[in-house]
Amino acid sequence: MREPMERSERVLVKYPLFKATIARIQACFDSHDATAEPDCCPIVGESGSGKTTIISFFASLHPRVDHKWGLEVPVLVAKVPARPTVKSFAETLLYQLGDPLWSRGNTVSKSIRLRELLKRCRVRLLALDEFQHFVDVRQANIPNDVADWLKEQVEEARLAIVVLGLQRCLEVLRQNEQLRRRFGATLRVGAFRWDAKDDRTTYRAFLRAVQEQLPEYGMPSLSDLEMAFRMHYASYGLIGYTMKIIRGAARIARCHPRRQITLETLSQSFAEHVWSERLDDPNPFTENFDCDKAPPLTLPSARTCVPRVAVGHRSVGLELHA
Ligand SMILES: Nc1ncnc2c1ncn2[C@@H]1O[C@H](COP(=O)(O)OP(=O)(O)OP(=O)(O)O)[C@@H](O)[C@H]1O
Ligand SMILES: [Mg+2]
Repeated sequence: MREPMERSERVLVKYPLFKATIARIQACFDSHDATAEPDCCPIVGESGSGKTTIISFFASLHPRVDHKWGLEVPVLVAKVPARPTVKSFAETLLYQLGDPLWSRGNTVSKSIRLRELLKRCRVRLLALDEFQHFVDVRQANIPNDVADWLKEQVEEARLAIVVLGLQRCLEVLRQNEQLRRRFGATLRVGAFRWDAKDDRTTYRAFLRAVQEQLPEYGMPSLSDLEMAFRMHYASYGLIGYTMKIIRGAARIARCHPRRQITLETLSQSFAEHVWSERLDDPNPFTENFDCDKAPPLTLPSARTCVPRVAVGHRSVGLELHA
């Protein structure tokens, strides 16, 4: 029998923006059938900001049900395939709806089967993760045929849609007027900023909640100002890196009878899981790390993307404000 997954691997914190995002998705879900045009919503955020976790959690609130009459799928979650074409995109959706013949037939017959299945499975909300795959290739030429096709399918089934992805996925909506008209305001789930008081407070509360969910581990108080600063520095304030470091430290501590996570354990976890990506920055979990003299951080997304005015704040100097 497989062992149940360790608690540290299952930690889930419902921080305020998490709850607000779930509520927004729920509003889209509820708008199916209730409004003339269902609500649609884009959710964007850096890699590791928790988008997939949010939509997976929402889907778990509305699970698939195997009825006598067939499968009901209230929330259909699918990842947009890399370099999507109408064919590959239709196949992905058919596959997710359990069509055993997902690869069979030409594009037209696939589209017809998909429309039938969307109705038969009573899909209310379609959630498309990795939506930036629409823009990743042929940057200048977003595959509009796929976007048009998507619009037709959802119009027919009167689905609410949530799209999730990196910031650049908004370009798809910007370039496709008809799709854009269906979407409301963008929800952003970025990194927690240390230089914004509310974000800092929320990040510290996030760390406290993680620690509370791991009572079997001894560790320094993660939400104390200095520790929180170190954690933030190590993770850019991104949940993905934060959890990677904490989970890594828990794995190391599991080998010891007292399951003690120390500054050294965190330092080791950071070195193993994060440091290779940013060798120019100091390891913030070493004793001699000076919070007041830490060099400023630049988010990975700001390093790899063309700078955008709207995200200018992403390069932040970290000050240890109380
Ligand atoms: N609310 C949360 N509580 C605890 N852990 C979380 C939470 N949200 C995300 N995580 C953890 O952070 C990591 C990254 O999350 P996730 O994969 O959802 O990010 P993402 O925004 O989808 O990233 P990408 O754009 O690279 O796909 C995962 O290991 C996940 O378990
Ligand atoms: Mg994801």
